[in-house]
Amino acid sequence: MQTGLVHLHNILRWVILILLLLSIARSYSGWKNKKIFTNGDRKTWLFTLIFSHLTLLLGLIQVFFGRYGIFTSSLPEGTSLMKNKFYRFFWIEHPTAMILAIIFITLGYGMAKKQVSDETKYRKAFTFFVIALILILVAIPWPFREIVGRPLLPGM
Ligand code: HEM
Repeated sequence: MQTGLVHLHNILRWVILILLLLSIARSYSGWKNKKIFTNGDRKTWLFTLIFSHLTLLLGLIQVFFGRYGIFTSSLPEGTSLMKNKFYRFFWIEHPTAMILAIIFITLGYGMAKKQVSDETKYRKAFTFFVIALILILVAIPWPFREIVGRPLLPGM
């Protein structure tokens, strides 16, 4: 069960990255080409929102109750949290950056419902989604990262 949840959390990263790139492309093209906001745009943004919130939920389960969870594991004796690169990453850096990213995705989706011009919707959503993408790319435990690196897909 626990392993399955981590695997799902791992795979959802790709779903979010693809949807976020699509959302960025649609909002950029809508903004620059002065398009009329469509239901297709709204749905792409909505799916980005849904999958990011699902990943957030799985992440919260991991950070509290996972194999390295705050309630289910403990720091190696004699180390402090801020001096332990592994725990600092999974308990603080990764969750903080990802929660911030998900807030930006939520703000981006929120533009779909705002009573503003379509140009403003696209422009602001574009900015929010790009910030979210940067945060996610920086905070993913990519395989090349020392100590915290994880596989690109589960079981690799
Ligand atoms: C866009 C959001 C997120 C993405 C793309 C993401 C991505 C990932 C990836 C790729 C892993 C490695 C999984 C593996 O070992 O196979 C991971 C692990 C982890 N993530 Fe996230 N994450 C996100 C949000 C969060 C949030 C919001 C939290 C906490 C509140 C969180 C907590 C964790 C924890 C604790 C682990 C380590 C799990 C373990 O190895 O047992 N993540 N995350």
